[in-house]
Amino acid sequence: MSPFHLTRTLPEDTTGAALRADVREGLTGSPKTLPPKWFYDARGSELFEEITALPEYYPTRCEREILRARADGIAEASGARTLVELGSGSSEKTRYLIDALTDLRAYVPVDVSESALTRAGQALAAERPGLDVHALIADFTARLVLPATPGPRLVAFLGGTIGNLLPAERAAFLASVRALLTPGDALLLGTDLVKDEEVLVRAYDDAAGVTAAFNKNVLSVINRELGADFDPGAFDHVAVWDAGREWIEMRLRSRTAQTVKIPALGLVVDFAAGEDLRTEVSAKFRQDGVRTELASAGLELTRWWTDEERRFALSLSTAR
Ligand SMILES: C[S@@+](CC[C@H](N)C(=O)[O-])C[C@H]1O[C@@H](n2cnc3c(N)ncnc32)[C@H](O)[C@@H]1O
Repeated sequence: MSPFHLTRTLPEDTTGAALRADVREGLTGSPKTLPPKWFYDARGSELFEEITALPEYYPTRCEREILRARADGIAEASGARTLVELGSGSSEKTRYLIDALTDLRAYVPVDVSESALTRAGQALAAERPGLDVHALIADFTARLVLPATPGPRLVAFLGGTIGNLLPAERAAFLASVRALLTPGDALLLGTDLVKDEEVLVRAYDDAAGVTAAFNKNVLSVINRELGADFDPGAFDHVAVWDAGREWIEMRLRSRTAQTVKIPALGLVVDFAAGEDLRTEVSAKFRQDGVRTELASAGLELTRWWTDEERRFALSLSTAR
């Protein structure tokens, strides 16, 4: 079996402090918001995997279709010996890249979810003798310090997760990725594309209610970590397409006027009946927009692939 290392780049109390700061800021602001990274405790990561198998959730299937068809071309263009994956989750689709990259020595999955990293990393280390799997528990929006592994590097950011960042956050994030790249390195970016509203809304509001459970999981995380008394049953899951900003918003809508206590913050939060708490933005993209955002960060889009139905795109870019 090849080596598996797990490194926590942030002390645990930093993570706790970040949750407290985000919850205080998000629940005292107007409108109320929470950042999506707090969905992903062990239960949230499991629920996300269930979402990827839902009939309504096309992004995973489309991205897998592109990777299956194009992994050899991506590998040839990159020649990477280290694959860094941001927000790697289950690393399931990544296997197409790992298999195609014939000179690959190291795989560096980066995620906030320790449970997802451990499960995926241990499985890969067992399946791929000779591959050094060096998992990092880290926030990809913070400054990343990568392990010293052989170049060139391919940095993959799949699943359309970039759409969960707001425009200013995306600009800062892409600039920080650009700073990680040296000549010969590349970024492989998965972006969900603008499409029919009905298809988009169904992808975030499935008939079986798995996305609703995923959305409400953030309340369970705050209850457990901060001693809050959210009743997840007192909120409805809502998915809304914002045509102007071209993004989906996931929200939790308060069914009644209610008050929630968060003892770890000494905070009491009032919700009006029908008031929304925004828990996730999922931006959808067009090729020109992706090219422009990459260029603003000093990256040049060199390849663009979509699935047959043009629902999802993968792009390859290099430092300019
Ligand atoms: C939408 S899922 C995508 C998972 C996987 N890449 C895929 O394509 O199926 C987002 C992943 O990013 C992780 N994540 C979310 N915010 C993060 C952050 N700020 N830093 C590191 N990981 C994060 C989550 O734990 C989750 O595994």
